Amino acid sequence: MTAMTVNERPVDFDMDPDTPLLHALRDAANLTGTKYGCGVGDCGACMVLVDGEALRSCLVTIGEAEGRFITTIEGLSRDRSHPVQQALVAEQAIQCGFCTPGIAIAAASLLRGNPDPIEAQIREAIPNLCRCGVYPRLVRAVQRAARVGSRRERISAAPAPGIDPQDAARAVPGMRAEGADPQGGTSD
Ligand code: FES
Ligand code: FES
Repeated sequence: MTAMTVNERPVDFDMDPDTPLLHALRDAANLTGTKYGCGVGDCGACMVLVDGEALRSCLVTIGEAEGRFITTIEGLSRDRSHPVQQALVAEQAIQCGFCTPGIAIAAASLLRGNPDPIEAQIREAIPNLCRCGVYPRLVRAVQRAARVGSRRERISAAPAPGIDPQDAARAVPGMRAEGADPQGGTSD
């Protein structure tokens, strides 16, 4: 068993310690918000927070993650209320959305350490690839998230209609709330 904390819940993975964290999260814990893009560390679609640092989960084994605190996009906020999530939506910085979870994780990590980054710092801290080319909007979104995070601005946008978090949780068990089926998705 390889133990770690995923989205604030203890998880034991009964898997080979060399298994990439990406696959453990997606295939065993059912946390499919973390995306498999390239699998070799190039795209950033698989980024998760490991002890607060945005890392490519395709390059981290569960053995390396043992004992650490993992946050996936499902754990960033339960209702898409994190400033980064709000700003990405408000700035329409989401096209197909495949890259978005990794970008949100990278942006959240950046803002945690630098609450008011300039454009160059955003581009450097978020090297994620986006085939849809949202880069200019992405910069605006992160700057807006910084304003929201420091309470200089408020985004009142509600979740998009028809995508109630409870509905999403029915399709993605990994999003289930406390007390329901194992959100942390222990695999045994
Ligand atoms: S899937 Fe990990 S960097 Fe592309
Ligand atoms: S929004 Fe489509 S890959 Fe980025």
